[in-house]
Amino acid sequence: MTRRHFVETCALGAMTLAGARVLRGAAGVAPGPGPAHYRLRLDDGWRFGGRFDPAAVAPSFNDSRFEPIALPHCVARLSWQRWDPGTWDGVWIYRRRFRLPPNFAGRRVFLRFDAVMTVATPYLNGRALPAHEGGYLPFRREITDALVDGDNVLAVAVDARWSNVPPEGAADGRRTIDFYEPGGMVRSVWLEAVPPAYVREVFAKPVEVLTPGRRIDVSCEIDAHTVPESAAELAVELRDGDRILARAAQKVHVGKAGETAAALTLPLPAGIVLWDVEHPHRYDLVTRLSVDGLPVHDHVTRIGLRDAQFRRDGFYLNGRRLQLFGLNRHELFPYAGFAMPPRAMRRDAEILRRELNCNAVRCSHYPQSDAFLDACDELGLLVWEEMPAWHYIGDAAWQDRAVRDVEAMIRRDRNRPSVVIWGVRVNESKNNPELYRRTTAAGRALDDSRPMSGAMNGPMHSRRDWDEDVFAYNDYHHPGPAGSPELRAPIPDVPYLITEAVGQIVGPGPAVNHMYRRSADAAVQMRQALYHADVHDQAAANPRYAGVLAWCAFEYGSPMNSHDGVKNPGVCDTFREPKLGASFYRAQVDPARRPVIEPNFYWDFGPRTPRGPGTGVAIFSNCSRVEVFVGGQRHAVLHPDRRRYPHLLAPPAFVDLELDGAAHPELRLDGYLGDRLALSRSFSADPRHDRLELQADDAEIAGDGSDGTRVVCKVIDRFGAVRAFAGGLVRFELSGPGELVGDNLFALGEAGGVGAVWVRSLAGQAGTITLRAVHDSLGAAAVPIAVRAAAAARDGEPAR
Ligand code: GAL
Repeated sequence: MTRRHFVETCALGAMTLAGARVLRGAAGVAPGPGPAHYRLRLDDGWRFGGRFDPAAVAPSFNDSRFEPIALPHCVARLSWQRWDPGTWDGVWIYRRRFRLPPNFAGRRVFLRFDAVMTVATPYLNGRALPAHEGGYLPFRREITDALVDGDNVLAVAVDARWSNVPPEGAADGRRTIDFYEPGGMVRSVWLEAVPPAYVREVFAKPVEVLTPGRRIDVSCEIDAHTVPESAAELAVELRDGDRILARAAQKVHVGKAGETAAALTLPLPAGIVLWDVEHPHRYDLVTRLSVDGLPVHDHVTRIGLRDAQFRRDGFYLNGRRLQLFGLNRHELFPYAGFAMPPRAMRRDAEILRRELNCNAVRCSHYPQSDAFLDACDELGLLVWEEMPAWHYIGDAAWQDRAVRDVEAMIRRDRNRPSVVIWGVRVNESKNNPELYRRTTAAGRALDDSRPMSGAMNGPMHSRRDWDEDVFAYNDYHHPGPAGSPELRAPIPDVPYLITEAVGQIVGPGPAVNHMYRRSADAAVQMRQALYHADVHDQAAANPRYAGVLAWCAFEYGSPMNSHDGVKNPGVCDTFREPKLGASFYRAQVDPARRPVIEPNFYWDFGPRTPRGPGTGVAIFSNCSRVEVFVGGQRHAVLHPDRRRYPHLLAPPAFVDLELDGAAHPELRLDGYLGDRLALSRSFSADPRHDRLELQADDAEIAGDGSDGTRVVCKVIDRFGAVRAFAGGLVRFELSGPGELVGDNLFALGEAGGVGAVWVRSLAGQAGTITLRAVHDSLGAAAVPIAVRAAAAARDGEPAR
């Protein structure tokens, strides 16, 4: 190919790739200026055929009996509890037809799978593409040469059996890891189009952003189908919306087909806005590949500029010490496992950042969805991300896969400003210096700007055979009969972070965390909030602790030490509704932003708590004073207990509330900031005025068949507070263009009086969904959800 021909074909997108029939009829269509990089979401229009049938990979197979579904999808229909791995163990088949969008013509075409649980073998037009093993990371397959004119048939065999792929592999199967992994096509699938030579990957590493030497070191990988004869040029631009803030360019020599690495430095002007937890400002870095002066490809990376360091005296963001205050998150949801739409993933980040006031989250114990991590970048929620693994270390093949996962995770997420540390050790594993030398080295080779770490536990509280950058410890130490947690002293001379704490500590007696569930013992649930307060207070007392990421945010499906298959150490339940354990987190916010009063008890005089909350119970509030009124009478004036919790932003206040509730007294809590009444909350002990409430997270969703929103269903008192231990059966009725994702009938009592279902749209339909819930004694409630028409995507959209 001549130089002139290469340039023309790249620029016009009309390059004839060997055997690429797709190009026919498209030659001469110039893409015009722009990214020359398109993608099309392939989440709608799938057919799910149940158990794998080898005949079903043939393009001519008649799949009309397959169930029409949209992604994300779980192979099993699950309840919110009592998951049975038998319902997803097996090999499954999905099919989808697609036609290439007109603006894909002349380009190289890839399929990208964001995640398939657990082993995926795609077949295009009957031809098997290489399988991918592992459920949490993306993979791409080039399909340029396998495409046909007209309908292409994509079939995907999904093997959801227990296999020798991290975190799985142990001989005893599912019961050996603490979280279930229901199989399916659990994240999005994309069709991507790029020019013959394109920028495949960019790592934009902010360097010394606090000094005049501030810059971005950009490393790129160019992937060329054929060798251009002329030198190409790479240019990078830092953009803030439409404004270009910095630009650099240099010649690159693409001397071979396949991959070429190139590096550039982009000096940054003074006055750039740093990414911070309070102001998570993001920029676009546009990397343009040109050949002979003609732009052929724009690669857009969303980035944030910040300086993040773990030091011996804690974590520093942009030169300022920041105490890490957070929780662990599993990505498992009721009814769907991992297969929840991006909106639900995003909502978890909002709950953590805006409702629980966390500045950090640990993605335990695997790389989590793009939607969740995008939200962390946008909301200023710092992330510990870790390789998929739990306790078990497998054979040589398993270990190779673990190292590969570390690389894939870092490649996927190293441009994210929120990610500040990589977990490259199997959570709570026995030591394996050789494996950890490999994972650490693999991590450092791809990203030398973030520390490598990994959570240790139990007796592994020493630096023997330890070679990471931050010592991370899951600290469940709780000496003494009272059972309160007591953090171990930090390991000297290294940055030190608590990656888990509290979890299933229940005080005296056996550690049985099912006691924490909403429908269980009120006293245990009350202790949970105080334990979380204890560990954060202890850590904040000593700058050697970079912070605490406690166990955990949300309850999750688990075969281990769980109740009916749900593990209960979440401060929120599996439906993402706060339990008492969350009352501590909810109050840790500047009252100027939001005054909060969260009693750490239920105002209830029913059979479980006939004498009410008890003595010495806590009220979490960020007000300077809380006045307590019982039955309209002033009962107490409370101040935060700074003596017991000197290091918390908002220490709890304590009050005696053991009383005869026969008269159903009301409780009123008035919170003052100085002399100003900032917030007043009331609680009714009289269940006669209780009612059922339905609340949707979103007023509107997209009619694409994938989108959906949560609808919380609970029994509330006449002031809107949750009625503890409410029971009864709820029946849901859905009308309009949507479907119910949830149990129908829902036994409220099993969930402690609070539950949720999700409502999903139907592909190609718009209108209004009405969800109605009918309770067997408390009447009905209804909520409307608008469904807006989702434009039928025929053309690929420019990729960002
Ligand atoms: C920890 C473990 C977590 C979770 C927790 C139980 O030891 O790291 O993944 O299993 O125990 O609540």
